[in-house]
Amino acid sequence: MKLLVTGGAGFIGSNFILYWLKKHPDDYIVNFDKLTYAGNLENLVSVQNNPHYRFVQGDICDAQAVRVAMKDSDTVVHFAAESHVDRSILDSTPFVKTNVLGTQVLLEAAREAHIQRFHHISTDEVFGALELGSTDKFNETTPYNPHSPYSASKAGSDHLVRAYHDTYGLPITISNCANNYGPYMFPEKLIPLAITNLLEGKKVPVYGDGLYVRDWLYVEDHCSAIDAVLHKGTVGETYLVGSMTQDVPNIEIIKTILAIMGKDETSIEYVKDRPGHDRRYAIDWSKIHTQLGWSPQYADLRKGLEKTIEWYTQNQDWWKRVKSGTYHAYYEQQYGGK
Ligand code: NAD
Ligand code: TYD
Repeated sequence: MKLLVTGGAGFIGSNFILYWLKKHPDDYIVNFDKLTYAGNLENLVSVQNNPHYRFVQGDICDAQAVRVAMKDSDTVVHFAAESHVDRSILDSTPFVKTNVLGTQVLLEAAREAHIQRFHHISTDEVFGALELGSTDKFNETTPYNPHSPYSASKAGSDHLVRAYHDTYGLPITISNCANNYGPYMFPEKLIPLAITNLLEGKKVPVYGDGLYVRDWLYVEDHCSAIDAVLHKGTVGETYLVGSMTQDVPNIEIIKTILAIMGKDETSIEYVKDRPGHDRRYAIDWSKIHTQLGWSPQYADLRKGLEKTIEWYTQNQDWWKRVKSGTYHAYYEQQYGGK
């Protein structure tokens, strides 16, 4: 395959490129990324001289740049997005531009270039919230009901991707996945924020009552799920990707991290809640399991957290550089008032 990967310098995109070049060394990858605050080429130093890999800096909203970058590709794997809910609450403009308009620009270019597969990476957050204490799960037929500007913009992009399939016959697939965690995750999201704050001797901010539930997916499992969809998935179909078999509230995740890191609960700081905070996400991932034979290899959350904590402990230069500069201004704006 000749892949154009958008957003390949971000958390999941860079894990995907490292995974793919190892697993499929005969394939070619062009990584097209704007390098926003979340993009970091340091993640890809180990492949930067690989002749099967090329980086192009560009914005997915720039039709001409996208056209040029896509020229020799047969497959698009679209990760590029503004991805953080809290930032979307502070300013939704870049979310609508990149996630909605940028996706439309890519779809148009893919149509022109006769791309053989356009795989769109989306999120379970487009489905809204489930009730705490219920056993309900999202599946491929759950109606869309997004609540944050982030999830609304991702919902818009999903609808556009499906519309390009139904209207123009573009060969698309979509995956809606759970909250990922693992190496190279930007420390604005809960798990890396908690680990790096604790490594710095700071407290972990917990929103509201801490009884919010997410389905957590180790990033390597997400990469293998995309691999399964690209090689075995059916054009036009959507696949949900999750990992958990039971609910674990945020506060329990934080307590597990504290226990692994040898800290006590005085390191927890309850802060004001996020507006429109979705109570619970849970994914029924039986379709990708039964139809494509995919299963998560890191379904044991504690093991995944241990692996992640080990990575952040051994790669302090990476996150210390990331946490310098504009990160401070964001942290002050988000948490300054507590
Ligand atoms: P990230 O924020 O870590 O990385 C996003 C990448 O996209 C960065 O490298 C950034 O530079 C690039 N980018 C942003 N705007 C761009 C633009 N206009 N043009 C080109 N590049 C641009 O995000 P992530 O956590 O790796 O998420 C990747 C994808 O997975 C997103 O589509 C996100 O919605 C989805 N997703 C993420 C999670 C999660 O837990 N992180 C869960 C479900 C779905
Ligand atoms: P986050 O990692 O931002 O992902 P998402 O909002 O996309 O699910 O947040 C995960 C959960 O953790 C969510 O319920 C919000 C909560 N949270 C905190 O309690 N404290 C924090 O500092 C952050 C960033 C998140």
